Amino acid sequence: MKNKNFDFGLVGLGVMGRNFILNVAENGYSCIGLSSSIESIKILRKEGKDFIVDGTTSEKEFINSLTRPRKIMLLVPAGKPVDSTINRFLPYLDKDDIIIDGGNSHYDDTERRYEFLKEKNINFIGAGVSGGSKGARFGPSIMPGGDKDSYEIIKPIFESVSAKINGQPCVTYLGNTSSGHYVKMIHNGIEYGIMQLISESYHILKNGLKNKNFDIYNTFKKWNDGTLNSYLIEITRDIFKVKDEKSDNYLIDLILDKAKQKGTGKWTSQSAMDFGVSIPTIDSSVSMRIISSFKETRGKAEKLYSANKMISSNSSLKTDDIEKALIFSFIITFAQGLSQLKLVSEEKSYNLNYEKICKIWRGGCIIRAKLLEDFMQAYKNNPSLESLIFDENISEIIKKTVLSIRKVSIYCIENNIPSHAILSSLSYFDSLKSSILPMNLIQAQRDYFGEHTYERIDKEGVFHTDWEKN
Ligand code: 6PG
Repeated sequence: MKNKNFDFGLVGLGVMGRNFILNVAENGYSCIGLSSSIESIKILRKEGKDFIVDGTTSEKEFINSLTRPRKIMLLVPAGKPVDSTINRFLPYLDKDDIIIDGGNSHYDDTERRYEFLKEKNINFIGAGVSGGSKGARFGPSIMPGGDKDSYEIIKPIFESVSAKINGQPCVTYLGNTSSGHYVKMIHNGIEYGIMQLISESYHILKNGLKNKNFDIYNTFKKWNDGTLNSYLIEITRDIFKVKDEKSDNYLIDLILDKAKQKGTGKWTSQSAMDFGVSIPTIDSSVSMRIISSFKETRGKAEKLYSANKMISSNSSLKTDDIEKALIFSFIITFAQGLSQLKLVSEEKSYNLNYEKICKIWRGGCIIRAKLLEDFMQAYKNNPSLESLIFDENISEIIKKTVLSIRKVSIYCIENNIPSHAILSSLSYFDSLKSSILPMNLIQAQRDYFGEHTYERIDKEGVFHTDWEKN
């Protein structure tokens, strides 16, 4: 290794890591990668032959060949590998060096690591990186949090490698400590919600309206040319034209209907419960992945109930209504995720700026969508907007689409089509816009069996009634 003055170091040369370091190198920064796999280093050297990039298996060599303050990014699996890498590096690091965790780490871990390293005068940036392996190579959306001063040092690198929309980089400093990983977790929660909503729409098109894959392709193509224009609608469209290499069947029809998960959607729901935020569309999408894993149980239950003809309707449905239902529920999913960010930002003093978050989500990441332009504008008009549903422009879209989601929901219920996320989106909206909910009865029940007390609408104070005496 000739160069001893690399600008940027990256640990973990899997596909994501290799693509990210190649992206940094292509943007003119000299880079060194660390990996235990000689094979990965060989591939890095080969693919990066036109740039200043090298790799090593030696931690000491890696650390010693970086310019100070060292800028070291970790793209290793979340959890223990992050801690063990940090611990192994510690003896060699100097004051003011910067470690960036670019994985999908839990925000609690990021907070703990930030505090631990701060005591040792090492800067820690928790940065969510979205866009998959292609995004890492050609422009991801990056969500960094930590100390502003250390972000300023890595800012030129991140701004040059990130995706651009109208020349604007899809990266910005988000806030202190774990805010970057919190925002990335919410990104993933929204990703889960939107994927589930799209899957339910596919189910309606396929099993309700009896569309063939070719028709479904055309429907998604049309939707992608309109308000729903987004990365997830676009890739869904393209999935419907792929055939199996051997059998000539459509590949989608050969894929087992059990959805896996790595946990970021579940964390979003867990955190929402902890902080007291309601995000039922996202919760439903996590639940549906869990239900899907019980394939045998589902099969048994289907047999048990198939004799009962439970379908009550011959009602018809237009694909335009499904499109509008999707527009409605996309907005609701984003509204839920952004409401969670708002509440948690206040609780944890992240001081998040929602206009900027929508701005950097417009390119590079999995949830990029045309609607984000409207969301960005909504927060520009009112930075402390309580929920997207209160923005004038958004509420117009909601009013124009809500009848369609009601029709789609009725269709699904009458035709036996599972639609957990669609129904949850509508229910969430109906609940949020009801000034009266039946929770007075819950309060009465709690007071009846547990003397938990209740408040009244006609006078101030806290009351208890001996319900059995009455
Ligand atoms: C991204 C993705 C990425 C990953 C998901 C997959 O933004 O690039 O969100 O981080 O694809 O974490 O999550 P599941 O395996 O849980 O579906």
